[in-house]
Amino acid sequence: MSRVLIIGSEGQIGTQLSLALSKIIDFDNLFLSDICDQSKTDLKYLRVDALSYDDLKKNILDNDITEVYHLAAILSAKGEKDPMRTWDLNMNSLFNILNLAKEKIIKKVFWPSSIAVFGDNSSKNNTPQFTDKEPITVYGISKLSGENWCKYYNERYDTDIRSIRFPGVISYDTPPGGGTTDYAVDIFHSFKSGKIYNCFLKEDTTLPMIYIDDVINSIIKLMKTPKDNLRIKSSYNISGFSMSPKMIAEELININKEFKVEYNSDFRQKIADSWPNSIKDKYAREDWGWKENFDFKKTVNEMITKLNMK
Ligand code: SER
Repeated sequence: MSRVLIIGSEGQIGTQLSLALSKIIDFDNLFLSDICDQSKTDLKYLRVDALSYDDLKKNILDNDITEVYHLAAILSAKGEKDPMRTWDLNMNSLFNILNLAKEKIIKKVFWPSSIAVFGDNSSKNNTPQFTDKEPITVYGISKLSGENWCKYYNERYDTDIRSIRFPGVISYDTPPGGGTTDYAVDIFHSFKSGKIYNCFLKEDTTLPMIYIDDVINSIIKLMKTPKDNLRIKSSYNISGFSMSPKMIAEELININKEFKVEYNSDFRQKIADSWPNSIKDKYAREDWGWKENFDFKKTVNEMITKLNMK
């Protein structure tokens, strides 16, 4: 029986992952933690400092935690405002978890990576698992280094760290905090409140995206797969669909002709331009049966329903 800790439980992925795991794990075996004082949920909540190895170790031992979902990170756009703090949080919290896995205190870990590991010299379309990678953000550098460290620990210390490179995540309840793909969530909220949306990317910027329900399914599916099936020891490419700001704007304008989007790209354009347009995810499909349920149209419809915009 696993005893599970989610670090970053109140964030964009953590909120839905906590809910999903609470349906399959007994109340007593699931623990949430984040930097806030309490959880939005009634699930068990621990105040843990992910940057303190001793604090993490104590909480993990005291609660007999065997499995950790480490989701806490500073994202691509926000990370550029304070590169050293981003590096410190993203890397040192990961090292704490990797070392607890090395010591066999925790048996299994999930840690998300991102399409931010790719850079200008990566192939743009149907970007494969293995391609040149020169990330241009500190977030991307930390994710690429983190992936390599996961592989190193898995191979050298026989740990069980699993990871997925997520595309931009579209979710309805908890917004992302400071990513380059955040426009894909923000635009729905502007639409709902009847405001003009000022998009920080050019209208034809195509990026890989994924709907939150598919994110949660992918994590649960990967974590259930027998370790021996997993050929990728760093982090798996997965794809949902690809879209541009213009594509969403057109869908929303079809619903309400009054809705307006203006395009004023900022520093995030350069980041978006360095990322792939689409992702090839053959290894995830072959090794653990990954298949997305949500394409572009289904995601837009689901967001409209969930945000009560009909
Ligand atoms: N959605 C993230 C970001 O934009 C990418 O992982 O930073």
